Amino acid sequence: MERSTFSSRIGFVLAAAGSAVGLGNIWRFPYLAARYGGGVFLIVYVALALTFGFTLMITEIAIGRKTGLSVVGAFRKLNAKWTFLGVLAAIVPIIIVPYYSVIGGWVTKYFATYVSGAGMNAADDLFFTDFIANPYSPLFWTAIFILITFFVVAAGVKKGVERVSKILMPILIILTIGITVYGMTLPGASDGVAYYFIPDFSKFSPQLILGALGQMFYSMSLAMGIMITYGSYMKKSDNLDKAVKQIEWFDTGIAILAGLMIIPPIFVFSGTTDAVNAGPSLMFITMPKVFHSMGNTGHIIGTLFFALVLFAALTSAISLMETVVSIFIDKFKFSRIKACIIVLIMILVLAVPSSLGFGIWSGASINGMTILDMCDFASNSVLMPIVALLTCIFVGYILKPEVIIGEVTLNGVFKREKMYKVFIKYVAPILVLFILISSVLEGLGLFNI
Ligand code: PHE
Repeated sequence: MERSTFSSRIGFVLAAAGSAVGLGNIWRFPYLAARYGGGVFLIVYVALALTFGFTLMITEIAIGRKTGLSVVGAFRKLNAKWTFLGVLAAIVPIIIVPYYSVIGGWVTKYFATYVSGAGMNAADDLFFTDFIANPYSPLFWTAIFILITFFVVAAGVKKGVERVSKILMPILIILTIGITVYGMTLPGASDGVAYYFIPDFSKFSPQLILGALGQMFYSMSLAMGIMITYGSYMKKSDNLDKAVKQIEWFDTGIAILAGLMIIPPIFVFSGTTDAVNAGPSLMFITMPKVFHSMGNTGHIIGTLFFALVLFAALTSAISLMETVVSIFIDKFKFSRIKACIIVLIMILVLAVPSSLGFGIWSGASINGMTILDMCDFASNSVLMPIVALLTCIFVGYILKPEVIIGEVTLNGVFKREKMYKVFIKYVAPILVLFILISSVLEGLGLFNI
């Protein structure tokens, strides 16, 4: 059977950007920027995204397009001895998709609450904690979120993934800009804007670089086979270099805008940015309070905000599920529908422990980490850096960068070719090693980012 493809470069770019733009851009980026002195963090982040992030992303997309296979088959085709790396990379989305769907379920619940007109209740102190501790309700919303994802992936690459990304991504940009502009008109917002943009160089530290590195890695959906899978659906006639640049700017642009959307209103309503620092509760506790203080308009802005977050989470979950489904199709020659149904059941079952970890199974925690935190730690802090490190070693020294460069220059020039060679062989592996060591130390509680 011939492999499906995206119909155009723009279709590919929007789908890949859909994967990259997710919860990481909307809540994690703003809080890291707030913590690390605003403008300084932004400069470091952009510099890393354009060099290090670019290197890893173009490598994965080129591997996918060259082999025309999802992650396990792709590494096997390039070098049978390195099949294990494909398997390792495939484990990452299998771990992430269930717990990502749990958070997706929370977002779906909030969106439904705002749409039904009950949004103001979400500002109640106990609304969030009561909700996640309930054994059934979060699971119900998680199942709804997973089912929506399932229908999109089951519809196929062109009719499902590409079509949905083409609709949702432009709406996402408009919503982000709209909510940001509204926030700017609030009296006092300019202090928040200044706080966000004006660099405070005294905050420059190794931790800042580490924070920016880790964030970029996750935000660009690297080291989990997603970009290899999406690359395998890219046409040979599309310009790869241009596509990667568009995706990296899309992802970085939305992250920077998200900071501008969230920090000024929080500044206005709470007088400090401490609340930005609050992790998941920023989105589910602080933001509803901010919307509450906006009065009637808050209801509309809240609804739009949760629509935006839902779309961002959905397109990311779609890419995760597509990656797993694609492995099943390539490996076992299953039909798409059969692969989707198997993966659907698998995700539904695996999502249960992550969800219950906030309620009746909250006893199952290690080092203060809930079940969801543990999955997050195993995938983001351990497996992903290992996969990225091995990919750099494989491409830099075994396969050779020329193979990737050959694929990129099939159609169009590779403007950052020299930089690419230096990064893939020397700089990127060192930076990844740096992330791996520090995140493991952090997970063990020995170090604090
Ligand atoms: N890139 C997404 C974000 O920024 C996160 C993500 C991770 C998406 C893994 C898919 C898979 O939130």
